[in-house]
Amino acid sequence: MKRRIAVVPGDGIGKEVIPAALKVVEATRVAVEFTTFDWSADRYLKDGTTIPADGFTMLARDFDAIFVGALGDPRVPSNVHAKEILLGMRFRMDLYANVRPVKLLDESLCPLKGVKPEHVDFVVVRENTEGPYVDAGGVLKQGTADEIATQEDFNTRKGVERVIRFAFELTRKQGRKRVLMSDKSNVMTFAGSLWQRVFKLVAAEYPEIQPQHMYVDALCMHMARDPKQFDVIVTNNMFGDIITDLAAALQGGLGMAASGNIHPGKTSMFEPVHGSAPLLAGKNQANPIGAISTAAMMLAHLGLNSHAEKIDAAVLAAVRQKQITCDVGGNLGTRESAEWIAKQVAKSM
Ligand SMILES: NC(=O)c1ccc[n+]([C@@H]2O[C@H](COP(=O)([O-])OP(=O)(O)OC[C@H]3O[C@@H](n4cnc5c(N)ncnc54)[C@H](O)[C@@H]3O)[C@@H](O)[C@H]2O)c1
Repeated sequence: MKRRIAVVPGDGIGKEVIPAALKVVEATRVAVEFTTFDWSADRYLKDGTTIPADGFTMLARDFDAIFVGALGDPRVPSNVHAKEILLGMRFRMDLYANVRPVKLLDESLCPLKGVKPEHVDFVVVRENTEGPYVDAGGVLKQGTADEIATQEDFNTRKGVERVIRFAFELTRKQGRKRVLMSDKSNVMTFAGSLWQRVFKLVAAEYPEIQPQHMYVDALCMHMARDPKQFDVIVTNNMFGDIITDLAAALQGGLGMAASGNIHPGKTSMFEPVHGSAPLLAGKNQANPIGAISTAAMMLAHLGLNSHAEKIDAAVLAAVRQKQITCDVGGNLGTRESAEWIAKQVAKSM
């Protein structure tokens, strides 16, 4: 049975790294069918479409997974198209767990001295549908010296519980040992109390897994000083957003980081962690590995593990043999690096 994948390259370097990653997927000869959608700044500027009215229903009904590049373009300063497409997928399709694996493939990629691949291998599970990102709030007396801006932070019992449970299930499935919940409950007491109580309740159902807690500011310090202590981290939407850029730096930068936006049993969406990097766009310089590793993550999610493993092995070979772009110490272009990886995959089949 062919898996159906909706592809949204989006803006900027998304339009380069996604076609490059698709070539690598094709090299595995996996039974998938891609349908590409042009939802992007170009389309929005042409006819005002962000995503068609039935877009989310159609994606959930007709596709097994969605593969997205990046959205954001200086020609659309309001970022309205990116919000509607990307946050729309996350919120309206209820993709509540944003899973970001953090793995160092080679010592040379880590900016920290003496840190080896076995020291950086953890997963961040970020809540993906709540927090301050629901866009609730308002402005009073705008433009005056008395202006008041509020941005509300939503945390529901249901939302907190399901993402924490997801993190424990992932830990069990991946044979990991510890789940660390990170918050700021010492000062954000209402939301913090909910996260703390629910974390304890859910942790009690997984006696073989060690529950841990760390305030998010301390976590940032520890991530830079001693990343090997982390196994699985679960946190809210905003802290997850921030700490995963820091975590990406441990792997060699944003160009290396993969992610999945997941709701078990529903059509889920996969995207590299990086944005559209407008200054890099159109230069064949963007690192395609984040997108390629994201494609592997998507195949594994669809149960196509052996194809995913071939891609991961080829990426590792590319890093070790420096068949990579300049942001990670190579001298290949986006296309050339992806083509090398695709060839390596084809050879291994
Ligand atoms: N998920 C998304 O679609 C997403 C995520 C973040 C930012 N954005 C949007 O992207 C635009 C640019 O945002 P930004 O500059 O804050 O973040 P960015 O991730 O686009 O770029 C940040 C830095 O990382 C570098 N970088 C990113 N991806 C790279 C790659 N594949 N290879 C090499 N270097 C890479 C860039 O050159 C830049 O220096 C904005 O419009 C923003 O809203 C979108």
